[in-house]
Amino acid sequence: MTRLKIVAGNWKMHKTLEESQSLITEIRGIVRDEIRSNTKVIVCPPYIALAAATRLLEGTGIGLGAQNCHFEEQGAFTGEISAGMIKSTGAEYVIIGHSERRQYFGETNETTALKSKTAIRHGLHVIFCVGETLSQREDKSYFRVVEAQLQEGLFHLDRKEFSHIVIAYEPVWAIGTGLTASPEQAQEMHAYIRKVVGMHYTDEIANNTSILYGGSVKPDNAQTLFSQGDIDGGLIGGAALKARDFVDIVKGMH
Ligand code: PGA
Repeated sequence: MTRLKIVAGNWKMHKTLEESQSLITEIRGIVRDEIRSNTKVIVCPPYIALAAATRLLEGTGIGLGAQNCHFEEQGAFTGEISAGMIKSTGAEYVIIGHSERRQYFGETNETTALKSKTAIRHGLHVIFCVGETLSQREDKSYFRVVEAQLQEGLFHLDRKEFSHIVIAYEPVWAIGTGLTASPEQAQEMHAYIRKVVGMHYTDEIANNTSILYGGSVKPDNAQTLFSQGDIDGGLIGGAALKARDFVDIVKGMH
């Protein structure tokens, strides 16, 4: 089993350029002094900080990602950012299909499919988010919902393209709410996702795919979540905005 352990911070719409630079400098210092594991640490600040972040992170091993991209190469799409533009900043990752984009910006399985393809064509790694809402958890359709997100948003990729995918399972009811999926609930879904990936591609590909958990991960619950067999790390929102908490979560991977 060669899959990578990953802890990624999704900063959402937080931090100015100056604040982003300070937070990255702080994270960089603590990671250098305290992290000895081979967990891949990634930060995803807002677009406006990507180029500066690339310079600050050079030689640190910390990865850099954006939080979204458009699926077209270029064109009359006022306010949008292309995969090529993200790549040109030095970023290597992009989050696609986050539930907030699905909920507030009309992201669908169809657009996530187009975006994944474009992002990979530009040499980016994709952190692809799936997850059910509270009502879908309650009416027990959550396996079906997540399977459709994978089928329709990702499984058009060929094997080589799929090797650039990291999956993040983020139950919508656990994002920013302080409610975390129990380690058992998360593990159950992660194992299911791995099974579905294995059925579509191969067991080897499924075993090599990193599947992150996201939704109210904090320093005090990270370790139990990360100790589950199919949880390969986390996508962290609120707690990624404090360097100390973020790095303590990374320590939960040990
Ligand atoms: P949260 O966000 O950690 O604040 O719940 C996670 C995410 O939305 O990626």
